[in-house]
Amino acid sequence: MLEHGAAPPSSEPPTAPDPVPSPGFVGRLARRKPVELLVAESGRGEGGAALRRTLTMWQLTTISIGATLGTGIFVVLGEATPLAGPAVAVSFVLAGLTALFSALSYAELAGSIPVSGSSYSYAYATMGELVAWICGWCLVLEYGISVAAVAVGWGEYLDELLHGTFGVTLPGAVSAPLGEGGYVNLPALAVIVLAMVFLMGGAKESARINTAMVAIKIMTLLLFCGIGFFGIQAGNYAPLAPLGAGGVSAAAATLFFSYIGFDAASTAGEEARNPQRDLPRAIMLSLLIVTVLYCVVALVAVGAMPWRDFAGTDAALARIMEDVTGLGLWSVVLAAGAVVAIASVVFAVLYGQTRILFAMSRDGLVPPVFAKVNERTGTPRANTVLVAAFCGLLAATVPLGELANATSIGTLFAFALVNVAVVLLRYTRPGMNRTFRVRFFPLTPLLGFGFCLWMMASLPAVTWAVFSAWMAAGLALYFLYGVRHSRLAVAVAVAGRD
Ligand code: ALA
Repeated sequence: MLEHGAAPPSSEPPTAPDPVPSPGFVGRLARRKPVELLVAESGRGEGGAALRRTLTMWQLTTISIGATLGTGIFVVLGEATPLAGPAVAVSFVLAGLTALFSALSYAELAGSIPVSGSSYSYAYATMGELVAWICGWCLVLEYGISVAAVAVGWGEYLDELLHGTFGVTLPGAVSAPLGEGGYVNLPALAVIVLAMVFLMGGAKESARINTAMVAIKIMTLLLFCGIGFFGIQAGNYAPLAPLGAGGVSAAAATLFFSYIGFDAASTAGEEARNPQRDLPRAIMLSLLIVTVLYCVVALVAVGAMPWRDFAGTDAALARIMEDVTGLGLWSVVLAAGAVVAIASVVFAVLYGQTRILFAMSRDGLVPPVFAKVNERTGTPRANTVLVAAFCGLLAATVPLGELANATSIGTLFAFALVNVAVVLLRYTRPGMNRTFRVRFFPLTPLLGFGFCLWMMASLPAVTWAVFSAWMAAGLALYFLYGVRHSRLAVAVAVAGRD
């Protein structure tokens, strides 16, 4: 809906939209959704109620930071450092570059097609329905599955916090799933239910809570840098890359997880006050802030603790704080910051997942219940409950230790498609109004595409196996449900009549 003050997306005269493919099975899979139609439907849910445009540029930025900054820096840093050595800071830069090229493409597309479906919608406009579905399915890996994995990490930090403050340890039976010595992971379930309750209240209220949590996590990391700085010993930086370039690139692929989420603002396209102006800014700004923070934290961490000591240390940052100050109190403070930080990832990522499914549901590719908007709150409540139930059950009952890499590979694939989409849209719709344009086109998106493939290739074989199984399941779902319920043909016909 554009009546809330958002400018129309295109100054191009309304010439014939993208061609509607001829009927037939292959034609149906390749049919593209015209950009004008995507934007015209913006905000509209099942049954007429609409999402509300309330989010400012800063709130959009904090949604992206909220979804990004969490497990990666608090937990995955400890896993990546033994792979790269002190050069783990370089790995952060490499992973950040991969994110940067794709972020530029996201920024251009979010400014031109400001809808909730993010890369799913961009793929629908440029590469057709099947590719859009594949992209959307990858986003479920990026958002839905990762939220479950992140919630499990949250439970671990909560346990540490409770232990540090009250000397209490949660019983294994209720803090780990079957296969990991327990029956159910209640803390992981609890954080998802909490996020669900907040999200059901309304986008504006959710954004306020998110901003507060983001402020706390940034302050926690700054505090770490301030204290860790006094523990730096120059000798810890040598040799810089003891395991060679291969180690640095393997660590970068692992650390890519820590950048996942910068695109979350693009899922808020239909709730932003001025999406075309603010979405590109929010995406770029959030990436800049997290990249700087990651690199500084990594430099301080490997300077303050020999890289070999990171192996097997779950809470490396807390240990460094404790070693530098000699006070257990600081590790409790850090654990508290991590609990808030990771909860905010759960919150923002859960938000993103609901909005992506909202867009897919409006297109008929997933059931209509996901596009129902509650009149009073202006949020997709049923959608939020269903997504939280799915993610909560997954987090509570399935061992998710290996899922971080699977999440990364799915995200990288979606990012690769966004880089392709930006190139295609420049050629198919050269005159379209773009509030943000990728510089050095087409080199930048091509580099983005190449970086994504390189990162994917750096991930282990088991991750590829999980990804293949995931894609096979997604294709089965599409052919069993999506292709038959797609509304594109009807929507194009109606738009043509209007
Ligand atoms: N980037 C998010 C995190 O590190 C998924 O927790």
